[in-house]
Amino acid sequence: MEKLIDIISQKVRQAFADCGYDKEYGAVSVSNRPDLCQYQCNGAMAAAKQLHKAPIAIAQEVTAALSKESMFALCEAVKPGFINMTVDAAFLAQYVYEMSKQEKFGILQPQKPRTIVIDYGGPNVAKPLHVGHLRSAIIGESVKRILRYAGNKVIGDAHLGDWGLQIGLIITELKARRPELPYFDDAFTGEYPKEAPFTMKDLEEIYPYASAYSKEHEEYKEEARHATFLLQNGHKGYYALWKHIMTVSLNDLKQNYKKLNVEFDLWKKESDAQPYIPDMVQKMKDEGYAYISEGALVVDVKEETDTKEIPPCMILKSDGATLYNTTDLATIVERMKLFSPDEIIYLTDKRQSLYFEQIFRCARKTHLVKEDTKLTFLGFGTMNGKDGKPFKTRDGGVMRLEQLIREIADEVYKNMQDRDMPEEEIRQVAQQVGLAALKYADLSNQASKDYIFDLERFSSFEGNTGPYILYTMVRIKSILARLEKEEDTQVPPSLRERSKDEINCLLTLGRFPDMLERAAAELAPHKVCQYIYELSNVFNSFYHNNKILTESDATKRTEWIGMIRTTLAVLQTCIDLLAFEAPDRM
Ligand code: ARG
Repeated sequence: MEKLIDIISQKVRQAFADCGYDKEYGAVSVSNRPDLCQYQCNGAMAAAKQLHKAPIAIAQEVTAALSKESMFALCEAVKPGFINMTVDAAFLAQYVYEMSKQEKFGILQPQKPRTIVIDYGGPNVAKPLHVGHLRSAIIGESVKRILRYAGNKVIGDAHLGDWGLQIGLIITELKARRPELPYFDDAFTGEYPKEAPFTMKDLEEIYPYASAYSKEHEEYKEEARHATFLLQNGHKGYYALWKHIMTVSLNDLKQNYKKLNVEFDLWKKESDAQPYIPDMVQKMKDEGYAYISEGALVVDVKEETDTKEIPPCMILKSDGATLYNTTDLATIVERMKLFSPDEIIYLTDKRQSLYFEQIFRCARKTHLVKEDTKLTFLGFGTMNGKDGKPFKTRDGGVMRLEQLIREIADEVYKNMQDRDMPEEEIRQVAQQVGLAALKYADLSNQASKDYIFDLERFSSFEGNTGPYILYTMVRIKSILARLEKEEDTQVPPSLRERSKDEINCLLTLGRFPDMLERAAAELAPHKVCQYIYELSNVFNSFYHNNKILTESDATKRTEWIGMIRTTLAVLQTCIDLLAFEAPDRM
C-alpha cells in the first residue's frame, strides 16, 4: 500500500504541475501545527522566490486545483504562502481499514531484499553478563526485528568474545589453584576428562579474582598473556580447558538472553575467525598494505580529510600475537565468505567508535569487502545512575543483569499490589512488565545518548513508559474480551461524521507505515517508542470520551471496535519489534 503521506504528496505535486509549476514544489510534510491541520506543503514559498511571484497567489492557485479532490476535508492557502491540509475522515477511515486487512499493514516490501549481518550482544564468555552488555543486546535485537519486518534478510550474530585475555587469566588462576589437573601436565597423553573441572559459579568467582590480581601483579598478567598466546597457538591442554569454559558459560549465556527475549540466529565466536587470519595477513602484506612499524604489523588508515589523528590499524603485535582488531577483520572475511552481506552493522558502546572507524577503513582499503558493502557502527551511550556517573549497584559494584531485572520487577510488583489477581500471577506479570519497563526505557532514548537509570520512573504506569503502553493494550484486550462472537467482523467504514478523538486515532494508525520506514532507515527503535506512546495517548483519550461497548449507534459501535482492534494489532506489532510482551491483564 502506498503511504498516506505519499498519496497526499502526489496529489499536491500534480496540482502544482496542473498550475504550470514544477512538481517538485509539491513536497508534503506532517504539520508542525496539528491544531491547524494534519499536513502542510511549503512549496509555494520556494516557487515564489524562483519565479518572483507572491507566494500566497501560488498557494491559492494550487489549493483551487486541489479543491476537486474529495480526499481533503480542508485544503487552504494561508499567509504568507503555506498550503494546509486535513484529510477527510471517511477517507482516513477507509485507508486504515484497508491497512488493517493487509499483511504487515500493507508496508511496501523491497523488490530485492538486502542481506544484513548484525553484530550485537558481544558477551565475553566466562565473564558474567552485566549492564554494559545489556544495551547492545536490547537495541540490537530491536534493530534486527525492525530491519527484518521492513523486508530485509537479517542475520543476528552474538559474536562471543571467547579468545582474549580473560581465558588466559582463568587458565592461569586454575593452574595456581589446581596444578595437579592433567591440562597442565605437558607430558599427559591420555584423554582429558569430559566433565569441566569447574561450574559457572566457580567461573564467576575465578575471573574477577584473577582480573583484579593481575592488575596488581605484572608477572601474573604476563603469565596470563602467555597462556592466551599458547591457547591461540594450539596448546592441547589449554584448548581442552577452553572447550570446558565454552560449554559451561554458553549454557549460562543462552539462558540469560532467553530471559531478555533476545534471540541470536548465530552464536559465532571470535575464535571462529582465526582460520582466516593467516591468508588475510599474507594478502595484506603481498598487496603492500601492511608494513612493519616498531616491530608490529600495521596498515595505515589515515585520510587527507581527517581533522583528528587516526592511528594505523594494528594487525599483529611484535611477538606475532593477534589482537581484537585482527579478529574483527578476519570476521569480516568470514562473513563475506558465508553471507556476502550488503551491510554489516555493529552495536557497541560508542567509546569503540574510533576503533571501528579504523577497522572499517582497513577493511575497505585492503578490499576485504565489496565496493558497495556498507559497514555501519551504531554506538550507544552509557546508562548512568542518578548521580550522572555510569550505573553501579548500591554497594558500588557493577550491576549484574539478573539483579537489575529482579529490582525492576520488584518495583513493578509494588505498583500492582492492590490487584485482584492470584499472587503468583502478579509476580509473573510483574516480571514481564518489568522487562518491558527496562527495555522501553532503554529504547525510547536515541541510542547514542546517555540516559539516567530511574527505577521509579521506568516502572510507573503513567507517562512515557513501557508499563503505560502495556496498560493501554490490556485495556483494549479487556474491551474486546467482552464482545460476543458475531461482533468479530471488520466492516468497511461509513461516511458518518467523526469526532476529533476518533480522527486522531485513525490518523496515527494511518502513519504506521511511514514511521516504520523511517525507523528502519535510521536504525532507530526510539521512533517506534515515540509512535506507540502517541498511539496510546490518542487511543486513551478516545476511550475516555466515548462509551464503546454501550454505544447505541450500531454502525459507530462496529467501526469503533474495528478501530480499536487495529490499534491493538499495531501496538502488538510494535512491541514485537521492541522485543517485549504484553500480559492479558495487569
Ligand atoms: N566482546 C566485546 C566487548 O565486550 C564486544 C564485541 C563487539 N563486536 C565486535 N565485532 N567487536 O567489548
